[in-house]
Amino acid sequence: MRTFVRKTVEEVAEVAAEHVVQLIRAHPEMVLGVATGSSPLPLYAALSRRAAAGEVSFADVTAVALDEYLGLPPEHPETYRNVLRREVGERLGIQPSQIVVPDGATSDPDAAAAELERSLSHLGGVDLQILGVGTNGHIGFNEPGSALDSRTRPVVLSGRTRAANARFFGGDVTLVPSRAITQGIGTILAARRLLVVATGAAKAGAVAAAIRGPITAECPASSVRLHPDVTIVLDEAAAALLRVG
Ligand code: GLP
Repeated sequence: MRTFVRKTVEEVAEVAAEHVVQLIRAHPEMVLGVATGSSPLPLYAALSRRAAAGEVSFADVTAVALDEYLGLPPEHPETYRNVLRREVGERLGIQPSQIVVPDGATSDPDAAAAELERSLSHLGGVDLQILGVGTNGHIGFNEPGSALDSRTRPVVLSGRTRAANARFFGGDVTLVPSRAITQGIGTILAARRLLVVATGAAKAGAVAAAIRGPITAECPASSVRLHPDVTIVLDEAAAALLRVG
């Protein structure tokens, strides 16, 4: 596990972007696992600047989502399909057909989850998975208590996660879906490389638990320590509690 701590969010984005760029240069047709949430947005912005400068091309990259809300109408701007089309597809130049997302509008969530697993197998797995960390230590939508070998499945979101995500729904927690489809922890750990990005003081507790605490289902992010190729990039605020003890 490699851990980088940088002063600012921008520096974190640059370190993480360099990691992604190096890999895409080596594997232009790579499968890139993409997270939503606010943590990776500066990374996507940094990658888009580098793509615009001609330093890297995402034309042959396939992006795969970690998760998707269940029950939002397809045109809703906060479906992860639409978020990823805007933040990853349009910025980096990845066609919508090259962005694989579980079907959150389905009437059969189990089948949609199984379909994502099939897509992952068909693609040959994820080469690099970008991950954020929830304030409660979740990765994807694997809430505390998710089995470390879990696969892609429908899940119920915790009140804390819905409250944290209410900012994307005009601050109204009642508008945040209560269910989602997420890649399981076992699915995430099957990626060839993991790149974890966490910034801000609100993540300090989860980051410390993930890196210093026991590897446990109670902190899904701690599971990344089971992976042989993990890069963690933090700002000083998110790393604050690592120094203690
Ligand atoms: C969301 C997403 C996760 C994300 C996490 C952290 O609920 N499902 O994939 O990593 O929560 O979000 P943020 O980066 O906005 O704090």
